[in-house]
Amino acid sequence: MHQKDQNNTHIPVLVEEALQYLSPQKGDSYLDLTAGYGGHAEAVLECTNNPRQAVLVDRDQNAVENLEAKFKGRGIRVLNKDFLQATQELMAEAGKFDVILADLGVSSPHLNIASRGFSLGADGPLDMRMDQRQTLTAGVIINTYPEAKLAEILERYGEEPKARKVAKIIAANRPVETTTQLAHLVARAWPGHSKVHPATRTFQAIRIAVNDELEQIRQGLPLWIDLLSPGGRIAIISFHSLEDRLVKQAFLDASGGGYDATIQILTKHPVTAGEQEIVFNPRARSAKLRAAAKINK
Ligand SMILES: C[S@@+](CC[C@H](N)C(=O)[O-])C[C@H]1O[C@@H](n2cnc3c(N)ncnc32)[C@H](O)[C@@H]1O
Repeated sequence: MHQKDQNNTHIPVLVEEALQYLSPQKGDSYLDLTAGYGGHAEAVLECTNNPRQAVLVDRDQNAVENLEAKFKGRGIRVLNKDFLQATQELMAEAGKFDVILADLGVSSPHLNIASRGFSLGADGPLDMRMDQRQTLTAGVIINTYPEAKLAEILERYGEEPKARKVAKIIAANRPVETTTQLAHLVARAWPGHSKVHPATRTFQAIRIAVNDELEQIRQGLPLWIDLLSPGGRIAIISFHSLEDRLVKQAFLDASGGGYDATIQILTKHPVTAGEQEIVFNPRARSAKLRAAAKINK
């Protein structure tokens, strides 16, 4: 496989489980809020066979170029926007969808292409933007935010127990230019060995802040429920507890209240990957899928 092809490969997680809960039927309309490299989309579209009523969203230009090439000539609408903007646009058009999927977080190409700056294992610039048109980068946060604000980001989005210490070390060593430099600085706050690299939480926190990830999800969730047609199904796949908590709460909010309930939760507990999938695709280890169906009123 060429380097470029390898960089543009993403193995979708929990595909069978997503299909089971989304139950896509022939003719269904489909909204994929994080279409990435089109693995889930391909599986869903095979069932709906209705590409003209499919909308694929991704804020990343590399992903969108791949989606356009992969589904060329099939009349699928591809939106290169963040999913909140895309949702607002679709709501203004008063469209409804039978099947909605959000497979949150970053893709394998984000992590594999060192120049994107997402991976602490590959030396790259402090970038971490999913949408490279935006001006806020990891470098801006790391090198210009006040130490206290940096500590707050590490604590809130990384649940970093030594947030203040890590922020202090970073602030004292500015400018920080690369992912490797950042990883080494964070490790200074955690002498000794640990199973997970001590900078993992910092990288997660900075990435979430750069891409405003949790706010996008928090605001998006109730709108996605609104966008479902009666009887429509939604599935959300999350990769860490901060995301999963938002999904769980939004589903509880929309399913409670007796007569006012708008959805029925289909997954009492989040669905996780089996051992076999994890061996084949280690990224699946932390995936959690929650699904719900719009009540037919
Ligand atoms: C886990 S990957 C999705 C992979 C996809 N399901 C597939 O089968 O290839 C997540 C994708 O969502 C995109 N993404 C994450 N947050 C987003 C947001 N707020 N708006 C739009 N796209 C987003 C990322 O750029 C990435 O391509």
